Amino acid sequence: MERSLVLIKPNAMKRQLAGTILSRLEAQGLKIVALRMRHINKALARRHYTAHKSKPFFKDLIDYITSSPIVAVVFAGDGAVEAIRRIMGDTNPVKAKPGTLRHDFGLDIQQNAVHGSDSSESAEKEIKLFFRKDELFDY
Ligand code: RTP
Ligand code: MG
Repeated sequence: MERSLVLIKPNAMKRQLAGTILSRLEAQGLKIVALRMRHINKALARRHYTAHKSKPFFKDLIDYITSSPIVAVVFAGDGAVEAIRRIMGDTNPVKAKPGTLRHDFGLDIQQNAVHGSDSSESAEKEIKLFFRKDELFDY
C-alpha cells in the first residue's frame, strides 16, 4: 500500500471544509491511517516545503501555511500519491478541472485548499515530519 501526506490548508480550515475534503478522498477508496490537527511553526513549514526554498513565493507560502491550524492526514491505498494528485487537480484552481478539490474549494494558487505529496519518496519524508511511527496505523 502506498501512502501520501495530505494537508488541509488554512483557507479550507477557515471555511470549515476539512470534513468535506476528507470525505471526498475516503469516497475514492483511500484510507486514513494517521490524522492530527496542529498549528505548524515556520521551521516545520520550511522543512516541508524545502524543495521550494529558492522560489520567489517561498516566504509567502511559509507565512500562509503557518497562518492557522491545519489538519494533517496520511492516506493509504494502491497508487495513493497519483490518485490524490488527480482528485486535487492542478496547483492553480483556475486551471483545475471541475470536480477536483482545488477547482471546487481553492481560492487562488496559494490558497488552493489542499496539499498532497508529489511522489512516494517525498510522501515518506513528509510523513516523518508530521507523525511518529506509532501514530501511523495498520488496520
Ligand atoms: P502542494 O505541494 O501544496 O501539494 O502543491 P503542488 O505540488 O501542486 O504545487 P508546488 O509546485 O509543490 O507548490 C507548492 C505550493 O506553493 C504555492 N505556490 N504559489 N505564487 C505562486 O506562483 C505559487 N506557486 C506555488 C501553492 O500553495 C502550492 O500548492
Ligand atoms: Mg508540491
